[in-house]
Amino acid sequence: MYSTAANTTQRPFIDLSSDTATRPTDAMRHFMASAPVGDDQRGEDPTVNALQIEAAALLGKDDALFLPSATLANQIAIRVLTRPGDEVYCHEHAHIRLYEGGGPAVLSGVQLCPLPGIHGTFAPEVLRGAVRPPDPHFARPRLVCLENTHNFAGGTVWQRDDLTAVAHAARELGLFLHLDGSRLMNAATRLGVPAAEVAEPFDTVTLCLSKGLGAPVGAILAGNKTAINEARHWKQVFGAGMRQSGIIAAGGLYALRHHIPQLADDHANATKLAQGFSEIPGLTLDPHPETNLVFVNIAGTGLSGDEAQARLMERGVRCSGGGHRLRFVTHLDVSASDIDRTIAVARDVFGSAASPPTPNSGGAGGDIMAEHSLVGRDAPSSSPPAPPELGVGGLSR
Ligand SMILES: Cc1ncc(COP(=O)(O)O)c(C=O)c1O
Repeated sequence: MYSTAANTTQRPFIDLSSDTATRPTDAMRHFMASAPVGDDQRGEDPTVNALQIEAAALLGKDDALFLPSATLANQIAIRVLTRPGDEVYCHEHAHIRLYEGGGPAVLSGVQLCPLPGIHGTFAPEVLRGAVRPPDPHFARPRLVCLENTHNFAGGTVWQRDDLTAVAHAARELGLFLHLDGSRLMNAATRLGVPAAEVAEPFDTVTLCLSKGLGAPVGAILAGNKTAINEARHWKQVFGAGMRQSGIIAAGGLYALRHHIPQLADDHANATKLAQGFSEIPGLTLDPHPETNLVFVNIAGTGLSGDEAQARLMERGVRCSGGGHRLRFVTHLDVSASDIDRTIAVARDVFGSAASPPTPNSGGAGGDIMAEHSLVGRDAPSSSPPAPPELGVGGLSR
């Protein structure tokens, strides 16, 4: 028999850097190894097809497409719903804007219009104010992308009424709607509603399989038949047409069937961790966690983010972050006793370090550019900038 929850390969440290750190459980590996496969590029892989059918049903959409990553799912959605030269509206801290390599410009030829707002949300009036009337001088308004839960904001959830109001405004303005629902199941868990309800207002929805759901690879893009047929075309164009991919899709299928209920445990672990942090002088929750992401500002301890991460890691706790804002993410591979251990380690690392912040150490909202390097991205280098190099193939810029 295979255990559904435990991972038999122990890590030498507690990995709270990301929910992408989950590894397939023994049961998932077994399911993957025995999955029937075929040629997915020809639509003949039975496991991919089963995953697509189950994911579409879960999200309340006509159809769904299995893709290698959530980044690709977002980028294909943008390609499907826009034309080059269009304008796309998103939160200023949206993953598609900060962490997808400028994909909207490269792959779809669109420009992003960043919108301000608290907790990764924005108000309908902000959207209305940003969308300009038809004029040959202006880019054509076409698409709004929301993120739920919102990574950078701290795993925050769009409340139903707020989301409905923005979706309503978008429709009145004649815009399409895409949801970066990489952590949509966390949002649904927190709200206590079916996933389809969270996905309902959107033309297309990304769902990541390899974050809290615990599959090793993959994401879903769901939508109506027309949108997904078009997405299938762009999947091929972007080189993501795969063959016997049922072997990896099986991980996602297993995750949808078995790993959704455990997200509530991840949220409970995050709440417990936040409670522990809140009792350590110098640490400020930024914000209070709503799901599985715990962000804490350590400026009040006098330690730099790099020092803090290094000291935590020396004691067997890995987190991520940028500047003074550290990120701890709970997931399938993190147990309640790992949380106890993490709190004890944090007391040890920060307990003795508490001191008033220095003028440059930043507060809860400070150090914003350094914070943009979070989520495991490389920290900004302190060495002088290198001179420009010749481009690919020896072409000059
Ligand atoms: C909100 C959000 N969207 C999209 C992605 C991209 O996921 P992937 O790296 O699997 O492509 C991430 C990854 O961290 C994310 O947090």
